[in-house]
Amino acid sequence: MENNFLWGGALSANQVEGAYLEDGKGLDISDLLTAGTATTKRKITTSVNENEYYPNHKAIDFYHNYKSDIKLMAKMGFKCLRVSINWSRIFPHGDENEPNEQGLKFYHNLFETMKQYNIKPIITLSHFEMPYYLVEKFGGWRNRKCIAFFVKFAKVCLDNFMQYTNYWLTFNEINNQYLVENPLFPYTNSGLIFNANDNKREVMFQAVHNEFVAGSQVVKYAHSLNANLKVGCMVAASPYYANTPNPEDILKAQKLNQYQMFFSDVQVRGKYPNFILKEWQEKGYHIEITDKDLADLNHGCVDYIGFSYYLSSTVSADPNRKRIGSGNAASEDTVVNPYLQKNKWGWTVDPIGLRIWLNQVYDRYQLPLFLVENGLGAEDKLTSDYKIHDPYRINYLKDHIIEMKKAIEIDGVPVIGYLVWGCIDCISFTTGQMSKRYGLIYVDLDDRGKGTLKRYKKDSFDWFKTVIKTNGKKL
Ligand code: BG6
Repeated sequence: MENNFLWGGALSANQVEGAYLEDGKGLDISDLLTAGTATTKRKITTSVNENEYYPNHKAIDFYHNYKSDIKLMAKMGFKCLRVSINWSRIFPHGDENEPNEQGLKFYHNLFETMKQYNIKPIITLSHFEMPYYLVEKFGGWRNRKCIAFFVKFAKVCLDNFMQYTNYWLTFNEINNQYLVENPLFPYTNSGLIFNANDNKREVMFQAVHNEFVAGSQVVKYAHSLNANLKVGCMVAASPYYANTPNPEDILKAQKLNQYQMFFSDVQVRGKYPNFILKEWQEKGYHIEITDKDLADLNHGCVDYIGFSYYLSSTVSADPNRKRIGSGNAASEDTVVNPYLQKNKWGWTVDPIGLRIWLNQVYDRYQLPLFLVENGLGAEDKLTSDYKIHDPYRINYLKDHIIEMKKAIEIDGVPVIGYLVWGCIDCISFTTGQMSKRYGLIYVDLDDRGKGTLKRYKKDSFDWFKTVIKTNGKKL
């Protein structure tokens, strides 16, 4: 492992900050997501309904606690912390001419605090947080007006915060929305709420195209400011395996992997792959793409690939095989993989899948890879002496780091860093729960927002501290 390997944690603004209307912030899409459970989906409401509970409104109140939270992360030895900048703090409606100074001030203060402890921010520009006004007024990213709104926001962020870091990411898990049948994904990725007469896939591809163009303009702008700024794309890595050696199963898995890679293909290579163009042609989709868009894509290719890794899926082409379609992170053709354990939320645990994915993706692109999210969601118990014993989380992280190290040291894949998702407990994205915890730091808060908000170190806190100190030698 290189000495400058980036060990640390990852968070998003909407899952930790709270203060959802403070200091001029506008309503963002996450503010209208109700709480769900492992089995009940979160609802998307069109306004704040008094009879519903919205967990992101308060989240873990990082907005008022960031100083002490960063101090704890510094104690763990974090080299970096991935955070997002909530678009609606900087441009509350998204279409204003001037940014909200109070929003900028908050992030300046946050990054100054991190600097004090030598923690480098890894900045995500869009992590499921677009101003809701852009959804109401323009229909979200289906409307190409969002390109200019977003690029303006991104430029303001780069101008103000490039002094703190050279690592940037554009759209978090941009490929989630490929699963158009789960309303959560198109909504959180692109502010898409489908109408009855929408062809969902066509609308999704249009929104994604607009995001690709915006992303490429951001890359170009960042490079014009400073050639050393590194802008990455961000995809959810979730390999698909064939259920059997039957070529039908292999083809099914290959197709799904291909579609997953489509999102990085365009951002890495700057052009559309043939299979997508063929699909559009065959299905008669009309995607508005200008010559200038194509030139932008070509001139704004990303510098590295950021990705999250949690699980793999196994798919079958056999209609008689029982489908498990968890709806969360799986395609409708997902079947049980008897070789893998699952967590309570149905997510498989597959460390070797991480090594497989790293190899596949490096073979395809030869770009540096950055694992910007990995972790285990689990229910933790606070003991009467305020301890949290989480060997299950330590084992999960350890097993994944071991496979990542094999990819680096045996296979020669250049991985530049490893970040633990939700390094401090936060609101779950898919379920809105607090009880689906990923943190190395526990937050005393329950699924209805009750609790002292006090922070406690879990056993995994000291374990990860040693991992960082020994640069991954002692696991
Ligand atoms: C990724 C997201 O999907 O996985 C995070 O980038 C999210 O925002 C994480 O929290 C884990 O998902 P969940 O639903 O368990 O919180």
